[in-house]
Amino acid sequence: MTYTVPKLTDYSATGLEKAVAECIRLCIDEASLVSDDAELKSFRDRWIGRKNGILTQINDLWLKGAPKDAKREAGIRVNELKARIQELVEAAHVGSDENAASAAERVDITLPGLRRPIGAEHPVMRTSREMVSVFQKLGYSVADGPVVDTDYYNFEALNFPPNHPARDTQDTLFIAGQQSKPQRERLLLRTHTSPVQIRTMEQMRPPIRIVIPGTVHRNDPPDASHSPMFHQIEGLAVDTNITFGDLKGTLDHAMKEFFGSSVKTSFRPSFFPFTEPSAEMYVSCFICGGSGKRGSDPCRPCKQTGWIEILGCGMVDPNVFEFVKDNGYDPKKVSGFAFGMGADRIALLKYGVDDIQLFFQGDVRFLQQWA
Ligand code: DAH
Repeated sequence: MTYTVPKLTDYSATGLEKAVAECIRLCIDEASLVSDDAELKSFRDRWIGRKNGILTQINDLWLKGAPKDAKREAGIRVNELKARIQELVEAAHVGSDENAASAAERVDITLPGLRRPIGAEHPVMRTSREMVSVFQKLGYSVADGPVVDTDYYNFEALNFPPNHPARDTQDTLFIAGQQSKPQRERLLLRTHTSPVQIRTMEQMRPPIRIVIPGTVHRNDPPDASHSPMFHQIEGLAVDTNITFGDLKGTLDHAMKEFFGSSVKTSFRPSFFPFTEPSAEMYVSCFICGGSGKRGSDPCRPCKQTGWIEILGCGMVDPNVFEFVKDNGYDPKKVSGFAFGMGADRIALLKYGVDDIQLFFQGDVRFLQQWA
């Protein structure tokens, strides 16, 4: 609201006071709206311009129109007012930059809101979530554990004895400055999600069925198929009378759920310290349908074999149960199976991406494809 000089009828002390206060209030309001040099100039002219500025008008209207006996009082008041307005106009000049800034920052709540683009789920997270949900539907619950873990959980309690050569297969990143600690207490970046098997068995008595998605680290130089940080999904089922048949049936079902009902599974003997017997599980190539060929071209993802390696698995080694025996895992009474797979590798295959680095470079043009 802009100010227009009113005619004064009430020349009493309170009448004058009210008129003066109203004038000052509106001058302050107008000063706060000044946002650039041009506005500042017209603001100044409007209030203190010689010819027809507000102060000149007040002089004319209020003083000349004052009844004789109020002239003195009105004169004092108008002089005070003039001084105050002069100050305000000067301050507006001095602070014109600030005024501009504050005007620019003022929020117009009547404007429509800014639409923020909703991000897309990362392909690795999506793969992981979908795989986890296959197991959740089978009654598995989700567990997790620390990424920085101890040698004990990452190796020792998983039946990798100190100096066992199997440790070398997992190029471990150790936290520096731990030499003074006993080996089992030394911190490292977990090289797999398997330590969460032990951590969960310490917390929960059997029977258990858990899936463990998470990040792991290895000292691998980055290339198209390696990344020093990647993602695994681990699984563990422990109960009385769990057999290798349960392992095969569960994983075969899970792969059909995940890749489609036409895939087959194949188990080939392998070695992991924490499972006995151990196996690698392959699924028939869901790209070439198991033929090893795409038209007349060789199928690259399965290297023409018709099979793709998906995970490691096996029956939990009784030595592992020994570490959690006191929590109900007597190896004579319980048995179980475990498995672990790389979420990134599965995402590469599933979405036909040929370089794992693309997953971690954060290039929006790449990630937008999943939006
Ligand atoms: N932890 C293994 C690795 O990172 C994968 C693995 C193999 C997990 C067999 C398991 C298993 O639970 O039973 O290479």
